[in-house]
Amino acid sequence: QALKTQSVSYESPSNIALIKYWGKHGVQIPKNPSISFTLNNCKTTTKLSFEKRTNFDEAYDLKVILDGKHKPGFEPKIHQFFGRIDEYLPFIKEYRFTIDTTNSFPHSSGIASSASGLSALALCLMEMEREMHPEMSLKRFNQKASFIARLGSGSGCRSLEGPLVVWGEHADIEGSSDVYGVQYPYEVHSVFDHYQDTILLVDKGEKPVSSTVGHNLMHNHAYAASRFDQAVENLALLVPILKEGNLDEFVSLVESEALTLHAMMLTSKPYFILMKPNTLKIIDKIWEYRRDTSIPVCFTLDAGANVHVLYPKKDKEAVQEFIKNDLSIYCQDNRYIFDNVGNGAIKL
Ligand code: PMV
Repeated sequence: QALKTQSVSYESPSNIALIKYWGKHGVQIPKNPSISFTLNNCKTTTKLSFEKRTNFDEAYDLKVILDGKHKPGFEPKIHQFFGRIDEYLPFIKEYRFTIDTTNSFPHSSGIASSASGLSALALCLMEMEREMHPEMSLKRFNQKASFIARLGSGSGCRSLEGPLVVWGEHADIEGSSDVYGVQYPYEVHSVFDHYQDTILLVDKGEKPVSSTVGHNLMHNHAYAASRFDQAVENLALLVPILKEGNLDEFVSLVESEALTLHAMMLTSKPYFILMKPNTLKIIDKIWEYRRDTSIPVCFTLDAGANVHVLYPKKDKEAVQEFIKNDLSIYCQDNRYIFDNVGNGAIKL
């Protein structure tokens, strides 16, 4: 089947989990449900160009260009991704692809680009699928695009929509699924509108332990079963918090989730630490500031040393002053990124 278009472009953001996904089984099936804020400024833009292929030396014919430069080093990862999705998008064997991609956030800043990058690529491929199957509903398109993104980057399946996305089956969340992310379906208090996230870049060095290895260490982990139960419980607790806009409870739940994620790392076998001394200094400063001002600012962490500072839009001016004056000194090269909650990927 020949397609009329020859390229498609998408912009897809990163996301930050409030309830963390840590531990998986099968092919990227989460051990517990998670929920994230979709970001707005931290995003990947990908242009996928394609033509019928003539060279069949390898299973797939693809080329990766990052910031205008050919990057063969990234290609094995995409070959592996294609191997996983081939069954669901069989046309990928028939085309020669050029994946031209750029990230809005600085290179090697320690911000994972896999969620935004793989979701952008999944959406481009799904756009080809849509051209072949124009009868496909929007709901089906979104589900399958998130499903495909999940096979590339687990947490990437939460980047397509916004402002809040749930991934992983949960009895209280209608429509939730282990195989794709869904937009959070319930009422959210206006205090969470345009919620702010400033990402403090504490350490841009390579992580000593990758997420893949970290997830695997949850197999046979002494506290795994109770952690997975706790995540289910925490998501149930978050539903009324989001509805009522109870920021005190939001702050304690979100910070507890971040510290629990890192506690799982500290108690893995072998154990490891991804936080850096400055991560703790920042946490301490945030707690001090919150005590002194009663502004409901809190932190969360990903699988790394960087700190995400979360706060309501109405406190933006004060908190951003605090970040510039008191927190930026703990960032590598004084770098941080002001971001806020966004609505997901867009077709360009
Ligand atoms: O999607 P992965 O395999 O990079 O795992 C990401 C896990 C965390 O960022 C630590 C938590 C999450 O839910 O995003």
